Amino acid sequence: MTRILMVCLGNICRSPLAHGIMQSKLPEDHFYVDSAGTAAYHVGNKPDRRSIAVAKKHGLDISTQTARQFTVADFDTFDYIYAMDSSNYEDIIRLARNNSDIEKVMLFLEANTFIQNKNMPDPYYGEKDGFEYVYNLVHETCDILIKTIND
Ligand code: 4NP
Repeated sequence: MTRILMVCLGNICRSPLAHGIMQSKLPEDHFYVDSAGTAAYHVGNKPDRRSIAVAKKHGLDISTQTARQFTVADFDTFDYIYAMDSSNYEDIIRLARNNSDIEKVMLFLEANTFIQNKNMPDPYYGEKDGFEYVYNLVHETCDILIKTIND
């Protein structure tokens, strides 16, 4: 079983989309996908209604997800930890105990050579089209990541 964790700040906008989209692309008998936030603001909450809506529009139900905070134990559980932006990356790295922990953490967009800015924009304070942009970029990047994971 390969375990993949998607991490953003609140675990209500970006990482729930990455979680749901990645999960939908991988066989569940071989891959476990989850998400978490570096902050605890929204622990226990469902994804943001705008993330739920954009996923639904594309035929994906992420409404059953529940936000949780990233913990040190996640370094033991997961093989790949993808941070949505460099601030999330730094917050995760700060909790790493050793090189093995550090090596599991990557910027989600790092492998996407089509995009220069490696920070997934945070759509939380913006307009609805920000969520559509994030959905499409996550979708495209998951396909790229799956190739690197399967290699
Ligand atoms: P996310 O977006 O990190 O993509 O879930 C945010 C959600 C909530 C907040 C910030 C970003 N907040 O400040 O409450």
